[in-house]
Amino acid sequence: MNTQSIIYMDNAATSWPKPPGVTEAMKRCMREAAANPGRGSHEMAVRASRVLFEGRKALARLFRIQNPNDIAYALNTTQALNTALQGLLKPGDHVITTSLEHNSVRRPLEALRRKIGIEVSYVQTNAQGTVDLSKLRQEIHSRTKLIAVTHSSNLLGTITPVGDVGAIAKAHGVKLLVDAAQSAGVLDIDVGAMGIDLLAFPGHKGLMGPQGTGGLYIHPDLDLEPLMYGGTGSSSESPEQPTARPDRYEAGTQNTVGIAGLTEGVKFVLAETTERIHRRELELTRQLMEGLRGIPGVTLLGPGPETERTAIVSFLMEGFDPSEASFILDRQFGIAVRSGFHCTPLGHQSAGTTETGAVRASPGYFTAESEIVSLVEAVKEMMATLRKTN
Ligand SMILES: Cc1ncc(COP(=O)(O)O)c(C=O)c1O
Repeated sequence: MNTQSIIYMDNAATSWPKPPGVTEAMKRCMREAAANPGRGSHEMAVRASRVLFEGRKALARLFRIQNPNDIAYALNTTQALNTALQGLLKPGDHVITTSLEHNSVRRPLEALRRKIGIEVSYVQTNAQGTVDLSKLRQEIHSRTKLIAVTHSSNLLGTITPVGDVGAIAKAHGVKLLVDAAQSAGVLDIDVGAMGIDLLAFPGHKGLMGPQGTGGLYIHPDLDLEPLMYGGTGSSSESPEQPTARPDRYEAGTQNTVGIAGLTEGVKFVLAETTERIHRRELELTRQLMEGLRGIPGVTLLGPGPETERTAIVSFLMEGFDPSEASFILDRQFGIAVRSGFHCTPLGHQSAGTTETGAVRASPGYFTAESEIVSLVEAVKEMMATLRKTN
């Protein structure tokens, strides 16, 4: 497959390409440090442990986390979210979340509602994905334990004012879980200043690492029940999961090679800065939205280009089913976008696209302006061809 000719606009699912250092770091780790971390005292095992610690340090710098050991690695955002939700919530607890959430928040919550009897309130956003914070505040009651919000919608690109939600949570003694799947590496995140108690993030999207990486920040005052129990290489004589972090939340051998790549991705983000990355992605998003908005029959979803948002452009093409549109974009024009229902049925309800789903194009930091032009021209051509044949 000639990847040179692909126009990749599916960065919201997994970012691609990666900074060159990522692949190199993974190769180097495989050659020099791919022993079992935390399990042995021989030279290569120590090197493997160091790989994990270097990654934690870089992540702690990025999210302004004081103690790197408050970060537990995870396979992806979903595992991190499950560790947070299943580890924190007890029967009778109340959780407030929004209609914007990904199934990775909603499904664990619904499973907990069914299995242990938690209460869940969904605050409806408007069609642009904006959460009314006064509505969110009104839902708080004496059993409310947690507010869980996505930092940015994977359907609409809307940004949730997490710091304001954090202030509301703090004022009412409620914990805050943030799903940073679409914001880690793109928007500035300061867990202390934003009042975040739990931060779930992927390694394979904005942090530019490989798949199979991600993590969860857990505030030092929180003790979650681990999602998984097992070998940690520490306190091996005890039948209990250790209480020391990060081992408490990292049962089993970690993805050392993947984390070597993730560390390099995070270092790239730190060097470029989230401010520059976000600004660049916003420019590309605006260019794409302006281009698409001028095409008859194309409807854009989410906040307009003038609004601060992440690089997610969902749209409808009149006369095309979104999956048909993405198939044609791929096969005829070599452009990779995503289509369908983006794992957020309530989000589609809010946006009014429950029946249709949507095409989603998500440029990334490495997208070129010429690639945006190619996508706009392809959509234009598809719409013109349809008009001619009708
Ligand atoms: C907002 C949001 N939450 C959670 C997820 C799940 O992420 P992962 O695939 O890393 O588990 C995604 C994935 O696209 C997402 O966009």
